[in-house]
Amino acid sequence: MNAHPNFNRVAHMYRWAEYLTLGPILQRTRTHFLPQLTRCREALLFGDGDGRFTARLLRQNPELSARAIDISATMLHLLRERCIDARSRLQTIQTSALEAPISPNTDLIVTHFFLDCLMQTEVDALAANIAQNTGPGTLWLVSDFQIPQHAFIRPVARLYIQMLYVAFRILTGLRVQSLPNPQAALERSGFARITHHATLFGLIYTEIWQRQ
Ligand SMILES: C[S@@+](CC[C@H](N)C(=O)[O-])C[C@H]1O[C@@H](n2cnc3c(N)ncnc32)[C@H](O)[C@@H]1O
Repeated sequence: MNAHPNFNRVAHMYRWAEYLTLGPILQRTRTHFLPQLTRCREALLFGDGDGRFTARLLRQNPELSARAIDISATMLHLLRERCIDARSRLQTIQTSALEAPISPNTDLIVTHFFLDCLMQTEVDALAANIAQNTGPGTLWLVSDFQIPQHAFIRPVARLYIQMLYVAFRILTGLRVQSLPNPQAALERSGFARITHHATLFGLIYTEIWQRQ
């Protein structure tokens, strides 16, 4: 595992930095498939940051309980504050994703703009661990950046992603420098993609996968 990044110092400005750079696009992407997530009862969210998605998920699903995993104490503090109305259904654990306990009753995994903080080997290990500890039918909602296929967009997208990694390296000490391939990891672990939505010329996507 690479040395853990420290998102504490960016936690309070994270939301505003996001709105200033990409406006509402990331939050729209996170919530794009939310209306389809009405049957899950036990969610496990990795690196949900300040908790904007967790709060929406809990509000929409009064029967659902959620466990939020994050390495950053400040992010978890913000997440708890944002989910205060559903606090009896929320558990937060400050730990690395690869060391997180996974309840066998988990039926929803959420990773929004989180897997890009991991090396490919770590994404592989996380997906394998989740597959081993969850049952068939478990859903995995994943949103992230990707380099689009479009020939004209690709170089611009590459530059943008590189700049993002440089910024996160300076601000948080993140050592990852390129996007992993979550799709390969999920497929290898027995998940199949059931839906996909992309935006901003394909630079940003969100998908639901299901454990077979
Ligand atoms: C880029 S932010 C994404 C936040 C949010 N999910 C979003 O959609 O914007 C990454 C989040 O993952 C957490 N994180 C990074 N590496 C982690 C790791 N190895 N284990 C657990 N959490 C981690 C950070 O503290 C931060 O809250």
